[in-house]
Amino acid sequence: DADAAVAVAHPNIALVKYWGKRDEALFLPVTGSLSMTLDIYPTTTAVRLIDEPADVVVLNGRPAVGEAYTRVARFLDLVRSRAHRTEHAMVVSTNAGPTGAGLASSASGFAALATAAAAAYRLDADDRALSRLARRGSGSASRSIFGGFVVWHAGDGDGTAGDLSSYAEPIGGEALDPALVVAVVDHASKAVSSRDAMRRTVATSPFYRPWADSSEIDLVEMQKAIARQDLPAVGEIAERNALGMHASMLAARPGIRYLSPQSIAVLDAVLALRADGVAAYATIDAGPNVTVLCARADAARVTAALRAVGDFVDPRTAHLGPGATLVPG
Ligand code: DP6
Repeated sequence: DADAAVAVAHPNIALVKYWGKRDEALFLPVTGSLSMTLDIYPTTTAVRLIDEPADVVVLNGRPAVGEAYTRVARFLDLVRSRAHRTEHAMVVSTNAGPTGAGLASSASGFAALATAAAAAYRLDADDRALSRLARRGSGSASRSIFGGFVVWHAGDGDGTAGDLSSYAEPIGGEALDPALVVAVVDHASKAVSSRDAMRRTVATSPFYRPWADSSEIDLVEMQKAIARQDLPAVGEIAERNALGMHASMLAARPGIRYLSPQSIAVLDAVLALRADGVAAYATIDAGPNVTVLCARADAARVTAALRAVGDFVDPRTAHLGPGATLVPG
């Protein structure tokens, strides 16, 4: 079909976090960030142009309503205005992972939607343009356009200059080939969205600016550590960056705490692994789930240690995964 396309994209886990916007409407971040795209939990999204009075959106088999619907429809408005088209679309999206529990389903979701919608509406967009476009759906989605290790540049300026300068790109370094053991301690959706939480952190936390300043340094050091294939350095930078992000939000007013007792128990297990000589490092997004970075050869040992924390931990191992692609519908 001429006006239809299907795309697959994978989530990414940031090793240097994106936390805070300098422009809410354009999704321009305060700081640059760095992630690895995973090879698990893909999102598959089909977009088909329809002759109906409104967009139709089906997420994981159910019609999207409220905020979830509006986010997709607004995103399609942006694609339509750029493509000089007016037709509405039917969007059918399925995510294989635990949606809304801090495993970046919005990243794979908007990366897949940007890729499929651009194709369905015949928008002329290369990967860099798709990254900028995906950013407008969810900041972290800009990184899931690409596979492997990816940097999302904060860019500079505002308005069009800011928009054009803020995109993601792959940085190589695949030889490091780490494993990420994802400990899902809670499948439930989070109480405060990352969008609201980062807004409140930027607006009220006295620790936000210090974290953002340290994160700029982490971004430079992380790229060097990946380039020299230094897994312990990569892990240490990732862990301190994530804990610093959580410290900044704990200090927001009112404070925001995503870490649960289980999250802390997993952090303790990671410290115990390190005391045993295993290079394992934790990172945590806007949710209770802890992700553990380690060498591919240590993933089984890390998984066993996390299982020993309790039944609530359901570890999945991921490796570097691919960028967003169109697939035959
Ligand atoms: C903690 O990309 O979900 O996962 O841009 O408002 O949609 P919006 O936020 P989102 O935030 C992700 C935050 C994070 C860190 C990261 O992925 O870099």
